[in-house]
Amino acid sequence: MRAEINADNFSVGSAGGEIPTVTLKQLEADPHGAFRAYRKEYPVVLHETGGYFVLRFSDVDGLSKDPRFRPSGTIFPEMQGFGTGTMFDAFDYGMLTADGDVHRRRRAPFSRLFAARAINEMRPSIRRTAEDLIEDWYGVGELDFFNEFAAKLPARVVADLLGLPREDIPEFTLLVYEVTKIFSLGLNPDDVVGIEKAGHRLREYVDKVLDERRRSPSGDFLSAFLAAAAEGGEMSPEEILYQIFALVVGGTDTTRVAIVMQVALLLQHRVQWAEVCRDPDRISGAVTEAMRFEPSVGAVTRVTSEDADIGGTVIPAGQLVALSTMSAMRDEMAYDRPDIFDIHRTGQPRLHPIFGYGAHRCIGEAIARAELEESLSAITARIPQLDLDVPPTINGHFGIRRVDAMRVSWKP
Ligand code: HEM
Repeated sequence: MRAEINADNFSVGSAGGEIPTVTLKQLEADPHGAFRAYRKEYPVVLHETGGYFVLRFSDVDGLSKDPRFRPSGTIFPEMQGFGTGTMFDAFDYGMLTADGDVHRRRRAPFSRLFAARAINEMRPSIRRTAEDLIEDWYGVGELDFFNEFAAKLPARVVADLLGLPREDIPEFTLLVYEVTKIFSLGLNPDDVVGIEKAGHRLREYVDKVLDERRRSPSGDFLSAFLAAAAEGGEMSPEEILYQIFALVVGGTDTTRVAIVMQVALLLQHRVQWAEVCRDPDRISGAVTEAMRFEPSVGAVTRVTSEDADIGGTVIPAGQLVALSTMSAMRDEMAYDRPDIFDIHRTGQPRLHPIFGYGAHRCIGEAIARAELEESLSAITARIPQLDLDVPPTINGHFGIRRVDAMRVSWKP
């Protein structure tokens, strides 16, 4: 028998000690409310569309180091309807889903290039990009913040990193934002076709860029990556291509959603917004808290290599498991008053759960933080009088979450 959940008040129950099933409708209606209600009673829930969700901070943190929880290979794209093709290959050849030595060789060429020191050197140019985007609109006094700022900043940063021409940005941004829809649970067949088509075009584009750079290396990031990959001599052309594909995909939408949410949350908490405007030392704490409160990624995915008992609930071997960082970061057992947005919060974990764990911890964390901090700093310095006209709605609870729109205005 299945457990019951009441979507209105999230009272939960489970007959016969079975793992309860949470539905898509319930999670779409109020993901934090649903997680909160279940988390109290159960360490693990089944998701209606497949897979298990681990909800409590202590379990998410502990299982992230448990060798029985392995990278998920191609289980996720197959579950979403991508049995072959570009999107399947992106997971098959990518680093996120690879294990052991295969993962190490795919990630290794990036290690030096993504070191915090190398990324800190990019800060002035990231700051300039943010300032340029603001200046484009400053005199107008209003801005489609979602499309004209939050979507453009990460796309320009990734384009600059890879040496892509500025005129290619609109096209490749469109493709990336289509491809990342793969992380929404409950896709229909038309979605699958659209995502695969966009993935295929993005693959062709990355292939072309790599070809050009091989023919004429320029001493930039991409040339250095290709040289490091050639030096290791272990990566196939497909592997090389899909690591750059992953970088473009992983480096844009995640950050776009985070930029939207941090500014929206601060504008919805006006006293804290004013504090950040007055005191730039508050920026780092504000960024950290916004990523906890409304994260742009909902979970970290693993697969069980053997049966795993979690607080009396057994997840069988071979199952897709979402370690729900989104639920864990609102766990009252780990955070004081977790449903309050508070940029003064102390005691946040040293490593922010939003960027994942262990060998797979986000390789782009330093760039993401640089983008989030520099953009918030540029905005609060230039437009402290900013008003939130259309607040964003954030949806999703699994991979990259979705934000629809956000508009702001100000008196120039
Ligand atoms: C706020 C922004 C970002 C968030 C929330 C985020 C989150 C994550 C998470 C949760 C993982 C998986 C970790 C795991 O499985 O344990 C990951 C991996 C990854 N991210 Fe990010 N990310 C962000 C920005 C970026 C950026 C800017 C880039 C690149 C420019 C990037 C590239 C990658 C790559 C390549 C991986 C795979 C790493 C591996 O498997 O070894 N991410 N990220």
